[in-house]
Amino acid sequence: MTRSADPALARWGFSTWLDGARGTGEFIKLPELDDVNDAIVSMDGKKMVNFCGIGILGWQHDPDVRTVFAETAANYGLVVGGSRIIQGVSRPHLELEALVAEITGKERALTFATGMLANIGFVNAMSARFSFNNDDGVDNTDTVLVLDRECHWSMWKAAERFKFGRNLIMFDHNDMTSLRSELERLEGRKIVVGFETVYSADGSLAPVGEILDLCEEFGAVSFVDDANGFMVYGNGGRRFAAQYEALRRVTFQMVSFGKGVGLSGGALAGPADALDAFRFLSGTTVFTTNIQPPTAGAIVHVLRRMRRDPSVMEHYLDRVDRVRERLLRIGCTINPTPTYITSILVGANDIAVRVRAEFIERGYLVPMFGYPAVPKNRAVIRLMMNNRLSDEHVDGFVDTLAELKQKYGF
Ligand SMILES: Cc1ncc(COP(=O)(O)O)c(C=O)c1O
Repeated sequence: MTRSADPALARWGFSTWLDGARGTGEFIKLPELDDVNDAIVSMDGKKMVNFCGIGILGWQHDPDVRTVFAETAANYGLVVGGSRIIQGVSRPHLELEALVAEITGKERALTFATGMLANIGFVNAMSARFSFNNDDGVDNTDTVLVLDRECHWSMWKAAERFKFGRNLIMFDHNDMTSLRSELERLEGRKIVVGFETVYSADGSLAPVGEILDLCEEFGAVSFVDDANGFMVYGNGGRRFAAQYEALRRVTFQMVSFGKGVGLSGGALAGPADALDAFRFLSGTTVFTTNIQPPTAGAIVHVLRRMRRDPSVMEHYLDRVDRVRERLLRIGCTINPTPTYITSILVGANDIAVRVRAEFIERGYLVPMFGYPAVPKNRAVIRLMMNNRLSDEHVDGFVDTLAELKQKYGF
């Protein structure tokens, strides 16, 4: 049965699926915020303590960031008004690209409207066949993409036109034996190895140096999706310093400005000629728009401040460590690697639905991750704690979690 105005749509099954999913409670009402995203948000007029946001330091609330945003909007407009290839970029984009190249230690960087578009653009560009005039073109349709199985959805989406097993190969998560055996099998082919620094769903961290050693041994190009780690680690901080030092050897680095920087947009950094070619070959610099100029200006401002004073992030990470200790004390099963992403195992889908609903009743908005972000019946509360939450908010969350854990036995 379909409730759609167009009977032809019935064959797609949306209405039937929705009826079922609403029945099990899995088709949740998505948060609709009445005001700004912050530690406290208002939903349908009700105040909620918000554990769902990903802009961990809350830079969007900083008065100077807002001033820079407004000034950049006044000077450069709200939008460039077209894609990079057609309409070009503004000064704030160029400043941002120079800064990202400097921070990552790469020759060149290119901005994209989102990190996901940077990933999609990268895969497109590395596997493109293109020439302006039928000669002297590139033909990289023989590229083989070797991805960690836990790579983000955007990488798998980007690789959809690859053929699994032929030019799209998966290695077991963070497993160097598995990666080595795939690289041995593929020896002589044109390989890109893709992995993440900090993995979104379970907060695990790649053995960066070991992966890059293997890439160098087998002559593979390396690509890291550093969406989650950019400016959280490697900025003079003590945590995971060795992995971030090793990262300087990676061929290409993708970053997102949504997490550590807390704004939005993404970038690719790498060798100059490749990045210059990506302006044409990525597709996502050609067929879509870039970051808004005021956002680019605000990111530059935030990056400069974060570089000047890494202690803000270090204090935040100390705080996350203390929350992890408390979660362990109340008996939670959490991800073993102490990154800032904390993944609390809840398990069965039906329990996850009820736990989330009970949190909401008690005034807490929590990020419950289910399938397809994690395997079915392995639901987790995936925290990227907002530093603007007070200690009382965190206490309240941990106490509620302890109570619900007892009640539902997870
Ligand atoms: C590992 C990873 N890659 C890519 C992305 C996409 O980044 P953005 O949100 O900037 O599009 C995310 C965002 O959640 C991510 O976690």
